[in-house]
Amino acid sequence: MNFSSLSEIASYIVSDGKGILAADESNPTCTKRFDSIGVESTEDNRRDYRELLFRSEGMKGNIGGVILFDETIRQTAADGTSLVDVITSQGSLPGIKVDKGLQKIGSTEESLTQGLEGLDERLKEYFEIGAKFTKWRAVINIGKDMPSSEAISANMEALAEYAKIVQNNNMVPMVEPEVLMDGNHSIDDCFEATSRCLDTLFACLLDKEVDIKGTILKPNMVTSGSNNSDQANVEEVAQKTIDCLKAYVPDDLPGVTFLSGGQSDIDATAHLDAMNKIGGFNWKLSFSYGRALQQPALKAWMGKKENAILAQQALSHRALMNKLASEGKWDISLEN
Ligand code: 13P
Repeated sequence: MNFSSLSEIASYIVSDGKGILAADESNPTCTKRFDSIGVESTEDNRRDYRELLFRSEGMKGNIGGVILFDETIRQTAADGTSLVDVITSQGSLPGIKVDKGLQKIGSTEESLTQGLEGLDERLKEYFEIGAKFTKWRAVINIGKDMPSSEAISANMEALAEYAKIVQNNNMVPMVEPEVLMDGNHSIDDCFEATSRCLDTLFACLLDKEVDIKGTILKPNMVTSGSNNSDQANVEEVAQKTIDCLKAYVPDDLPGVTFLSGGQSDIDATAHLDAMNKIGGFNWKLSFSYGRALQQPALKAWMGKKENAILAQQALSHRALMNKLASEGKWDISLEN
């Protein structure tokens, strides 16, 4: 696949309902996922699991990009093919998580994502290995006096700085300002916090002269806090998320690919489908799910070779369901 601009890369990833498989769990996060199925998190097991995902039939036509962790982008499959080549042969583009995780801001509950130091050199290596796009995740909490304006500004400025450095290295930046679902806040609290983040983020991107046509936004959906007993329904989540995005996201951004953030796999698909059924926006509205794409595959696999095909079928199914949702063509009856 040959691309002559960042905008072509970004548009390809979200073309025809395609979305992104987020498989960039750091080793500690991958260990948490493997613990849940009683599998040891060794380098080989992580490779075997990710290789089986990337070789799934349902990658083709449904997954336009895969986000990798540093270890994975350097790994080879059991037969010696690089995982980057496995992904590319499925018609999907390899991407790489480049942030270095979170650091608490002073003694507060809030954090600032780290990783700008040495980023330019690291990007040059990832580009040589074959990465076409990158990801940086900022985390914003809702709670008493949170999010603070300081936390929002610092994180959105870092996202814009990162995006500029990535574009200078000829890759597409995904900017991920994740407002966490954790807490008992209302959907309106989430709407307000997400609005403040997106408003600041796009002002910072403009200020740094980041090319919006060569950028992908990876936001949270606007939902009730996960501990709130009064959960907003699918229609309300869909409408409030669209209203929020339309207020701040420029029309020339090629793609909005949501994170799943702890939503169940079916909820994540149903919300995406509902938004695309409502329509009325210029960007492609698609997915960049980690847990909501992988959970059924992980459960089917259980670390056993003989379960590989079942695990691949599970991933393929979720990939197809989310592609249909990105086109507003999903229905719950397709899940049986
Ligand atoms: P989830 O879909 O599991 O939230 O993961 C997406 C991701 O990449 C978070 O940074």
